[in-house]
Amino acid sequence: MVQILRRCDAEIFEKKDHDPFHQRLYSSAVIQTMVDVAKRVEMMLRDPEESVIVLSGCGTSGRIAFLLVTSFNEMMKAQKQKQICSYIIAGGDRAMLTSQEAPEDDPALGAHTLEKICAGKKHVLFIGISCGMSAPFVAGQLDFCLQHLDIFTPVLLGFNPVHMARSEPMQGCSFHFKDVAERMTAEQRHEKAFVLNPVLGAEAISGSSRMKGGSATKIILESILLAGHEAAFRGKRTTPECISGWITASEMVYETTYSHSDELAALIHQAGESLRMKAHVYYIGWGTLGIIGLTDASECVPTYGADFDDIRGFINNGFREMKNKEGDLSCLGPEFVIGHKDFVDTILPSLSQNDMVLFLFAVNDDLHEVTALADQVRRRTSNLHAIAHDLEKFTIPETVCNMFGTILRITWPFSSEEVNSVVMRQRWELSTKWCLNAISTGAHVLKGKVYMNYMIDLRVSNSKLYTRAINILQRFTGCSKSECVRALLRAIYSTEDLSEDMTSADVWKHTDAANRRDRVVPTALVMIQCGCTLTEARHHLDCHPVIRDAVNACFNSSKTKSTVD
Ligand code: F6P
Repeated sequence: MVQILRRCDAEIFEKKDHDPFHQRLYSSAVIQTMVDVAKRVEMMLRDPEESVIVLSGCGTSGRIAFLLVTSFNEMMKAQKQKQICSYIIAGGDRAMLTSQEAPEDDPALGAHTLEKICAGKKHVLFIGISCGMSAPFVAGQLDFCLQHLDIFTPVLLGFNPVHMARSEPMQGCSFHFKDVAERMTAEQRHEKAFVLNPVLGAEAISGSSRMKGGSATKIILESILLAGHEAAFRGKRTTPECISGWITASEMVYETTYSHSDELAALIHQAGESLRMKAHVYYIGWGTLGIIGLTDASECVPTYGADFDDIRGFINNGFREMKNKEGDLSCLGPEFVIGHKDFVDTILPSLSQNDMVLFLFAVNDDLHEVTALADQVRRRTSNLHAIAHDLEKFTIPETVCNMFGTILRITWPFSSEEVNSVVMRQRWELSTKWCLNAISTGAHVLKGKVYMNYMIDLRVSNSKLYTRAINILQRFTGCSKSECVRALLRAIYSTEDLSEDMTSADVWKHTDAANRRDRVVPTALVMIQCGCTLTEARHHLDCHPVIRDAVNACFNSSKTKSTVD
């Protein structure tokens, strides 16, 4: 799996410049657009009182927006400059830790949130992120910008060609995402808007844009923001060469991270074992590495139909460290209890040997704190591991490394002066993201939550995921769309007899109901494939708690049946 993921992530950096339809990250047109956008960043930074830079997205795209804005603003603060970056995540800050997929469907909400954040500003650089070029929330925002080009410069970041942008109707709208993307392209000719859409190749798990899509979002936007910053404050002109230089630095992070494939494979194996035994994986992170952990953990719920506590993240100092807009959200429920102290108080007392604990830290984090917490964990379990970053001239002491079973320790070839730089930290974040994406994906594959490379047990919580569920059913059963829709609705509404109300309801009613139900897609798949009732399908799934086994068994039995027939 590590080798597959390694090859898959390599496609982010593929240098094929001869395909006119599919621009890659290194294609000259993409680099030039990045230069153009970096120049807009520079302009905004030179006029901080009147300007704001807004990054917005849904799910992982919103979480990456939050992370980038937080670290860029921290850098500005440290240099006594005005913090002019802001983030929007569909569903608000709670979406950083939990899956809030429904607001993604609401273009008016997107536009309204953007309008509010930019009130009174004369110049707005808006970067709307939608990896699949599909999120109505972002389309609504881009449409709003296109109507106010005197103030807004909209940028669309995604990883599909414009002609493949989503063209399904959006709630309460006369246009769809593709219309907006085409209008953006038209405005790009006058440099009034920009579309940044290199193709990255397919995701390892079909549709899991949190992986390559999320990594590329981070690489591209960090390069743009840092280039704009260097131009504004260090007089360093933004050129295509300097943008390629930033990308090449990320490519080096990729190479270095995957050169530790043995340790990575060991961590995937360990996490898979824990999930298979119905135990848990806990990421205990420091600073922004903690945020990477929280992000990776939260994505497993919609992607694999996981429970929120299958894989969970914790961060030192909880929400104080997050520095999110809405502050401490811990009163919202157990998913929002995220501090190390919370881990010690609520999880540690019942921690078992089957639970895996994975520390995420770097040499400049508080190593006394790391050691003290590792000591506490070790008193309950030896299933304690780490991903740790240090530098050739500033290494983590062996006594600390020896506390962990498997330690994926990356010693980076940078000078010790770089240790506190934002750039160094961003590289460690990217490296940790690649590792955790591999661990959580691999562990769910081992748990049997993936069939072929499809997320067969996804949560059907918005219109995009509803369409994806139908596509998955059609692909595996070969049945007509209408048959698949009927089976899906039977699973969603938990009934054999679909009423007229149910079949005629709109997709948002379906997703609202589906959001509250488990194993919707597997149930529908078994019903279609085995030609059985809802009760029989559920019984079949109960007999095969591993979803992949359940699907395999029903395909095998229908094969045998048709041979006999
Ligand atoms: O709808 C859920 C989801 O697929 C998330 O898992 C994902 O991070 C998010 O949508 C954003 O997708 P996109 O960046 O393509 O808009």
